[in-house]
Amino acid sequence: MKIQNDTYKTFGRRKGKKLSNLQIENLRKYIDNFSIFKKKIDGTFKLQKINPRELFDNLDDIRLEIGFGMGDFLFEKASLYPKVGFVGCEIFENGVSSLLSKILKYKIKNIRIHFGNCIDLVQNLEFETLNNIYLLYPDPWPKTKHKKRRLFNHTNATHLCSLLKKKGTLILATDVEDYAEQVSKIMKKMKNFNKLNSNFLISKSKNIIEFNTKYEQKAYNCGRKTNYLIFEKNYV
Ligand SMILES: C[S@@+](CC[C@H](N)C(=O)[O-])C[C@H]1O[C@@H](n2cnc3c(N)ncnc32)[C@H](O)[C@@H]1O
Repeated sequence: MKIQNDTYKTFGRRKGKKLSNLQIENLRKYIDNFSIFKKKIDGTFKLQKINPRELFDNLDDIRLEIGFGMGDFLFEKASLYPKVGFVGCEIFENGVSSLLSKILKYKIKNIRIHFGNCIDLVQNLEFETLNNIYLLYPDPWPKTKHKKRRLFNHTNATHLCSLLKKKGTLILATDVEDYAEQVSKIMKKMKNFNKLNSNFLISKSKNIIEFNTKYEQKAYNCGRKTNYLIFEKNYV
């Protein structure tokens, strides 16, 4: 299924604070070692269909995080579960650089990165190959006029759901009430998915689910409630 062009730009800035010389050098030298797609001479990706198992010497349990920000969640989980393959995508250079530094420092072997638009990645992953998909605080602009740029719209959701294996889960955290409603509405139409959780709970103090990401921390610090939505695929 082709994802429409009007859903292609779902992100804000691609660069933040100036990178240090070491960060620039790390990106230049090492990002290709962890990249999912090779780059062409003109800097664009050589996109091709890919079974994520092949990225990890045939590990069975493969999990995808879309928009990993500074990479805190991926790094923590990949360190904890070396037998799980973690695929992450992010378009924000400082976030990719931050995760890459940790991968190099701690010699992490089970993370692969798409440093680009996640739409390019999800369109090229084979169906029914993922155990979990995480979308943690995907909402950079809670303003009404930006709603149409939300990543989790009907078209993208249908595609993401097709990537999950049977019993695979889609896990989404958002502190924007209206975004959570949009997700619930879309997922209600997916007849092969069960809602396992949907709760507004204040992270840390009461909630058993938490992801320790920068945006989760921000939500917590500002006293905003997060809705943790979890959906499980019943059949393919
Ligand atoms: C609000 S931030 C949340 C970051 C992180 N998940 C967290 O909880 O701290 C959303 C992130 O999604 C990324 N993003 C949004 N649309 C994207 C896309 N189409 N492809 C790749 N990354 C995207 C943004 O660059 C941004 O870093």
